[in-house]
Amino acid sequence: MKLARAVQDLAPSGIRRFFDVVSRMDDVISLGVGEPDFGTAWRVREAAIYGLERGRTSYTGNAGLLELRQAIAAALGRRYGLEYDPEEQVLVTVGVSEALDLALRALLDPGDEVIVPEPCYVAYPPCVTLAGGVPVPLPTRAEQGFVPTPEEVERLITPRTRAILLNYPNNPTGGAPTREQLLALAEVARRRDLVVISDEIYDRLSYDRPHVSVPTLPGMAERTLLLNGFSKTYGMTGWRVGYAAGPADLVAAMTKIHQYTALCAGRSAQEAAIEALRVPDRDVEAMVDDYDARRRLIVAGLNRIGLPCHLPAGAFYAFPSVAATGLSAQEFAERLLHEGRVAVVPGDAFGAGGAGHVRCAYATGLDQIEEALGRMERFVVGLPTMEGARIGTTVAS
Ligand SMILES: Cc1ncc(COP(=O)(O)O)c(C=O)c1O
Repeated sequence: MKLARAVQDLAPSGIRRFFDVVSRMDDVISLGVGEPDFGTAWRVREAAIYGLERGRTSYTGNAGLLELRQAIAAALGRRYGLEYDPEEQVLVTVGVSEALDLALRALLDPGDEVIVPEPCYVAYPPCVTLAGGVPVPLPTRAEQGFVPTPEEVERLITPRTRAILLNYPNNPTGGAPTREQLLALAEVARRRDLVVISDEIYDRLSYDRPHVSVPTLPGMAERTLLLNGFSKTYGMTGWRVGYAAGPADLVAAMTKIHQYTALCAGRSAQEAAIEALRVPDRDVEAMVDDYDARRRLIVAGLNRIGLPCHLPAGAFYAFPSVAATGLSAQEFAERLLHEGRVAVVPGDAFGAGGAGHVRCAYATGLDQIEEALGRMERFVVGLPTMEGARIGTTVAS
């Protein structure tokens, strides 16, 4: 069958291909997928079950249940002092994934450019392309904590540049800018009239300093579309619920597309999301403390093994360099999988700047991480290139 050129040209996801192989193997410890191992809290599941028992199985309004939009706006107000009108400025979507797609389709004319700092979440460049735009990669470096400088952004701006796509804390690097770094990027966006699409899905998973939400920066609320959701913070990946909050005209344009495509996010998922926003902060903080212990264990272990790794500021990913092994990221990941029975994702799957690194998700228990580190150490020690290369230090960022 003749298929659309844009789809034919789309490369299959590097992650998926890799995990198809993993799923057919035994005794593999997976540090691969970005899937929280904390399941959905019981009270949240019960809220959905209760709604089903009451027969609440219909569509909701296109923008999502008003009660959920009100709860989202209230949560953003409480957490960050942000003020969004739940009726005009909040749209409930099928995960952040749909919100991203809608935002790009609402913003871009064919050929418009979107600057995408890389390495980045695998969906960003294809989503820009499928919306008719042109993704413009901005490679970032480990020495800068994988945060671009304002000069690097400015160099890529052309008359066709419409937006920049930021994601902090970042998948796959775990990097997050300081407030000063973010202020400098915001200044470029304001001066050069760029829209910022800010995917803050890992905002609650910030370890060393409080998360800075882009629309809280001076003059940024009116040019930022904030994306967030329930998948990571509340262990709700399979429920498929997220949201966009931002300027009313952009949210209205997105809602127009959404009403003809997804119609609405699932009702049960929306009811569960309302309950998720009632989960006490201390429960979320306990989960973050758990992730923090895992983060420290894995980063110390990777550095000890001789795979230099900065301390990620957020999310649940470590992104060590494997350059010292003499193997490419792809070779390292493939050999580690077959010889060491540990699955990690080659950094090149996340675009420019990811080469020579692998992503290790620590959304798995401490004992599994210990075992994975042991296996990785045995694999690395066996590589002829690694003799005497172990450095035993932690590179902080
Ligand atoms: C940066 C980032 N954005 C969006 C998503 C997808 O989020 P959702 O499950 O809300 O569609 C992910 C999932 O891994 C992610 O890492």
